[in-house]
Amino acid sequence: MYTIEYDPTPKQRMFHAADADEVLYGGAAGGGKSKAIVMDAFFRCIKYPETHAYIFRRTYGELEDTIIKEAKDSYPQGIYKYNGGRHEMTLLNGSVIHFRHCSSVSDMYNYKGAEIQWLYFDELTTFEYEIYDFIKTRLRAKKSLKIVPCIRSASNPGDVGHGWVKKMFVDAAPHMQVFKREMVSAASRKKKVYRLQYIPSLLTENPHVSDDYIFQLESKPKALRDALLYGNWDAFEGQVFLEWQDLINKNVHTQEDLDNIAAKRWTHVVRPFPIPHNWPRYMSFDFGYSKPFSVGWFAIGPDGCAYRYKEWYGCESARPNTGILFTPRQIAEGILEREEEETKNNIVIDRIADPSIFDRSRGDSVAQQMEPLGGKRGVYFRPGDNTRLPGKAQVHERLRFSEEGYPMLQVFDNCKDFIRTLPNLPYSLTKVEDVNTDAEDHIYDEVRYFCMARPVPLRHVESAPKLSYDPFRRYRSHE
Ligand SMILES: Nc1ncnc2c1ncn2[C@@H]1O[C@H](COP(=O)(O)OP(=O)(O)OP(=O)(O)O)[C@@H](O)[C@H]1O
Ligand SMILES: [Mg+2]
Repeated sequence: MYTIEYDPTPKQRMFHAADADEVLYGGAAGGGKSKAIVMDAFFRCIKYPETHAYIFRRTYGELEDTIIKEAKDSYPQGIYKYNGGRHEMTLLNGSVIHFRHCSSVSDMYNYKGAEIQWLYFDELTTFEYEIYDFIKTRLRAKKSLKIVPCIRSASNPGDVGHGWVKKMFVDAAPHMQVFKREMVSAASRKKKVYRLQYIPSLLTENPHVSDDYIFQLESKPKALRDALLYGNWDAFEGQVFLEWQDLINKNVHTQEDLDNIAAKRWTHVVRPFPIPHNWPRYMSFDFGYSKPFSVGWFAIGPDGCAYRYKEWYGCESARPNTGILFTPRQIAEGILEREEEETKNNIVIDRIADPSIFDRSRGDSVAQQMEPLGGKRGVYFRPGDNTRLPGKAQVHERLRFSEEGYPMLQVFDNCKDFIRTLPNLPYSLTKVEDVNTDAEDHIYDEVRYFCMARPVPLRHVESAPKLSYDPFRRYRSHE
């Protein structure tokens, strides 16, 4: 007879009882998320013999220090055999818990042949969407097992996956509510409806952590405190554009907010307004095929403020950071279709693009393929300036509010993908001054080319964040 010493908190109980296909248990640090993952895998594997659970962490070191340690401390002795070489626990009923890491997109192909019934990701925001999406395809169960496989993840805010995790789970529906998401298979064109749920976690819900720990977190810088203590997904440690303000998409508006929105003050997102024909226009382009491409249109007001008034983001709607496989010619056509208004009014647009589209080393460059040819319409670009840090400084400078609350870059509220991706960009862990290029940064790159084409004087030098305080080792040490 084996006894399990585990008295789950009410939230952990909810996590174990959830019946959605994909669940994220997320938010504050120390709420008991990893413990819940470890125990959930165990319960499912014990209940259903001969099944396989896979628990992923970004790096093996993190897996060893947190998940494997927790499993060894929590599972009853004698009920499992641990194979240290293979990082697997085989239970007496033939089920196996596989502890796995996947530290880059190329690593995910190691799991091509896996058959997973219970899939877990701990610290989901440390994974790119591609990894989650690919490993998910390994989820399957023979009919004879009579089970419905599922995915369960846990995460704090922040890191490269912050944007897609927030969009997919946290912002998609009221918290705790099970909601539906339709996916269309690219291969079979068949539709399937998945049920998802976000269960927020709070440190204060875990009686097993000491009060000292809460006091420690309370004394931390605001972004870190809000993310780790309150599980706030709007700000996080390592966020690049801390200047970002969006009054329009706030849940609750005060009268002051409404006045500021009307005056286009203290907000980067503004309501669209008719743009005078004589304002200079720019269009900026970042090419992508399997990754999204991004096109942004800007108009410059008399005071020099740039308004991003329209955008076209070539990203699959249900798959963040996944391109729509348009050829350069198709993109050129799409750009011209979206510029009918400007063409009708004889508005000249200055077009800037990622300088790499002019590369002719492998035949016709992308830029050449977008030019008018053989009676077909097209567009011409001039190469943008892709020096990363000066470009980033320009974006910061444009986003910075003047003392009266006016920035030099504002975005019409129809530019949904800019609004979704720019505030979620984290700093790189290797090039600490720069944006992490593993995050969804295509719109940011395109904005950078525009900003470098129309630079503003720098009044303020941005310094990199200090990431020295990292009590939960959320930041990967391998990079
Ligand atoms: N139900 C429980 N019974 C006993 N101990 C628990 C329980 N839940 C969590 N703990 C303990 O509380 C501590 C924090 O839990 P855990 O590491 O799972 O939190 P977390 O939310 O994953 O934290 P982080 O955000 O740092 O990853 C751990 O020492 C864990 O063993
Ligand atoms: Mg954890």
